[in-house]
Parts: sequence; structure tokens; C-alpha cells
Amino acid sequence: MNTKHVIVRSVLSAVIFFGCIGIAFAADEEELEVDFSPQVVADYIHAVISADRAIYATHVVDRLQEERVVVATESWKQRKALPLPAQMLLMAGRVVEMGGSGLRYRLASLWPIFEENGPSNVFEEAGLKVVAEDPDDVYSGIMTRGDKRFFKAIYADRAVSKACVNCHNGHILSGKRDFKLGDVMGGIIISFPLPIEKKESPESPG
Ligand code: HEC
Repeated sequence: MNTKHVIVRSVLSAVIFFGCIGIAFAADEEELEVDFSPQVVADYIHAVISADRAIYATHVVDRLQEERVVVATESWKQRKALPLPAQMLLMAGRVVEMGGSGLRYRLASLWPIFEENGPSNVFEEAGLKVVAEDPDDVYSGIMTRGDKRFFKAIYADRAVSKACVNCHNGHILSGKRDFKLGDVMGGIIISFPLPIEKKESPESPG
């Protein structure tokens, strides 16, 4: 192969390579145009939060307690123990909030152990009531604050194990003492900002 051939081949390869990158970027830009339902986004976030909590509860808390390595307890800091799964969720929610993306999530209940975990407005109160009656339902809606809009969704949080029931029923500060296995104990509340609505341009006369 002579030098001329090598140069022609290199130039051709470069054109094909950068052409492909160009197509890839164009495809990405097109994909960014896809409208995503905020409900779907909330469902995704909820799936991650729930999975993390379940895995932490079974593969960290339960395992280490069974093996008598360390227990999980509310006063974990003082007792050098593990935080409870509910505390982990709430702590992670605070870290996410500090991240400044606008995404927020927390555990709440109509019968909270701590008042700050109660509903913070009528929307949350209504939502927690709805999911308490029908745990398969998701209560969601759009809130406005000034010129900002938020999507908020509330998912039922159920007593999936006897430990949930025993601890809450026996807690000195609990707002309810007759929880049974399978009952809805509260909800996971997720909220995030929505893009500012585009103002319709006034129609041109004529
Ligand atoms: C060993 C005790 C304990 C166990 C077990 C436990 N919780 Fe909790 N839970 C707490 C404490 C303490 C809080 C408050 C945490 C905080 O605000 O720092 C809490 C908070 C909550 C909240 C928020 C409302 C409230 O009561 O403050 C919900 C909902 C909740 N837990 C549901 C559950 C579910 C469902 C399970 C089982 C999967 C469970 N908990 C297991 C102790 C427990």
C-alpha cells in the first residue's frame, strides 16, 4: 500500500467516525425532546428507594442482628449501633435535599412517632388517607409555589413484617398502637420540580 492510499483511507475513516458521532449526538438531542410523565419518574424513584430500604433491612440489619454482630436501634449514634431502615431513608432524603436538585422524599404517617413525620399540608393529609384505604393507589398531583411547579406523589408504606408492628405499637411516642401485619403504616412522599410552563404566545390578529 503506498502513502497516498494510506492518507485516503485515514481521511475516509475519520469522515465515517466523526459522521457516526454526529449521528449519535443528533439522536441524543431528539431523545431529549421526549416528554416524560412525572408519574413515571416518581414511580422510578419510588422503586429505587423501596429496593434500597428492603435490601438494607434484610441483608444488613437482619443479617448482622441474627449473627449477633450489631443491632439496629433508634438511638444508634449513642449506642454505636445501626440506624433503623426508616432512619436510613429519612437521612438519605435529607442528603438528597441538600444536593439542591429539588428532589425531596421522606417517610410520613397520619400516626407518626415524631410529629415532623406527620402530613405537612392538606394535600399530604388527603394522600396519606387515600393510600391508607387503598395501598395499591398512588396519590399524586401538581403543586404551585410562586412561579414554581412541583409534582408530588404518595405511596403506601405497609407493615411487611412483625417487627414494624411490634416496634411502632410499643413505641412510647407512637400515634397508633393497634397496627397489624399488612396494615398501611404511612407513606413515602416524593416531590420534584417541574419545568416552568411555557406561556402561550398571543395569537397574531387577522
Ligand atoms: C425498632 C423500631 C422500628 C421498626 C422495627 C420499624 N420502625 Fe418505623 N419508625 C421507627 C422510628 C423510631 C421512626 C421515626 C424515625 C425518625 O423520624 O427519625 C419510624 C418512622 C416510621 C415512619 C414515618 C412516620 C413515623 O412514625 O414517624 C413510617 C411510615 C414507618 N416508620 C414505617 C415502618 C415500617 C413499614 C416498618 C417495617 C418495614 C417499620 N417502620 C419498622 C421505628 C421503627
